[in-house]
Amino acid sequence: MRKIKDIDPDVHVGEKLDVESATQVDNNVLDIECIDYVELISGNALQAVYYYSQAFGFKPVAYRGPKTKFKDDITVVLKQNDITLLVRSPVTPDNPLNDFLRKHGDSYRDIAFRVKNCEAFYLETIKRGAESAETPHVWRDEKGSVKRAAIKTYGDVIHSIVFRDEYEGLFWPGFVPYEDVFPALPDGKTVGLKRIDHVVGNVEDMNPWVKFYEDVLGFKEMLHFTDQDISTEYSALMSKVVRDGSGKIKLPINEPATARRKSQIEEYLEFHLGPGVQHVAFETENIIETVSELRSRGVDFLYVPETYYQDVPARVGDIKEDLNTIAKLGILVDRDNDGYLLQLFTRQVHQRPTLFYEVIQREGSQGFGVGNFKALFEALEREQAERGNL
Ligand code: FE2
Repeated sequence: MRKIKDIDPDVHVGEKLDVESATQVDNNVLDIECIDYVELISGNALQAVYYYSQAFGFKPVAYRGPKTKFKDDITVVLKQNDITLLVRSPVTPDNPLNDFLRKHGDSYRDIAFRVKNCEAFYLETIKRGAESAETPHVWRDEKGSVKRAAIKTYGDVIHSIVFRDEYEGLFWPGFVPYEDVFPALPDGKTVGLKRIDHVVGNVEDMNPWVKFYEDVLGFKEMLHFTDQDISTEYSALMSKVVRDGSGKIKLPINEPATARRKSQIEEYLEFHLGPGVQHVAFETENIIETVSELRSRGVDFLYVPETYYQDVPARVGDIKEDLNTIAKLGILVDRDNDGYLLQLFTRQVHQRPTLFYEVIQREGSQGFGVGNFKALFEALEREQAERGNL
């Protein structure tokens, strides 16, 4: 550990920007470059860092918290290829993040978009009816500046709007290298999670949120599942997918559909106390290596019955991966007109039956594995029944 140099506490306070003077750059004001980061609010950030680094292969790179004279909360920035994951916990008892945790448990609060003009993007979304979560501010240090604003979406989730083209530092002014304040964690074998493929929200009523993404952010509806597609005997869901113009940002939105018994989406809404992020899907280019490595690190995936694989050759046709290996690792396969995809879902990752992760490899298919939904939900429902919530 190196001794950290003195941090100016003022660096933590963003300077308010005058949005009214924001110049409307051009018609592409709502273009999004990528998901800048996703932020998980956790009851114990320091232990979560250990889990996400040792189990999922993320590398903790930056820290902000009491050790840098920021007393309210701790944030650790973890990276893996193009994925930036923030894990954040309140430190002081009166921090409002405690209310978020009491209500939702560990959960994603922010899906941040990287944009070309923070103020203009913010102003345009507000003009189109978005509710503000944070007006534009700028943070500066000797490495440059970062601008951020935020708008609200479903539940207590927000979309930060981040402009970082003029910043050459680690992550954000006020953050120091993780290894300056904590002992380095052991590097494992590469897990190979490359980027965030999609982030899924569960809501009570999806259509107003589809309209929100269309009207406010200029997204388009991509696919439409009906409860015929995604239903089992006892529960069902409806899902729509919205995506940005470039197709880089894909946000499926689920709602419960009428079923004879309680659906998983209803269970989520009950335990999460309203809408929120259900799962984050990480893309890999070699799901066999990724899932083998994740399993060896103790990541717990949904059980897929052996019988699932009996009709895979007929349903999916030729795939380049060895079917026996796929079956041994419990990986799901699906095909549509554009190609096929391989995917797998973790079990819930904390005490409430809410948040989980997906690993996905795309071989042409731009879908979400609709043919797998039935198999997945049957597997999920076996677990729901075990908890006595079905
Ligand atoms: Fe997914």
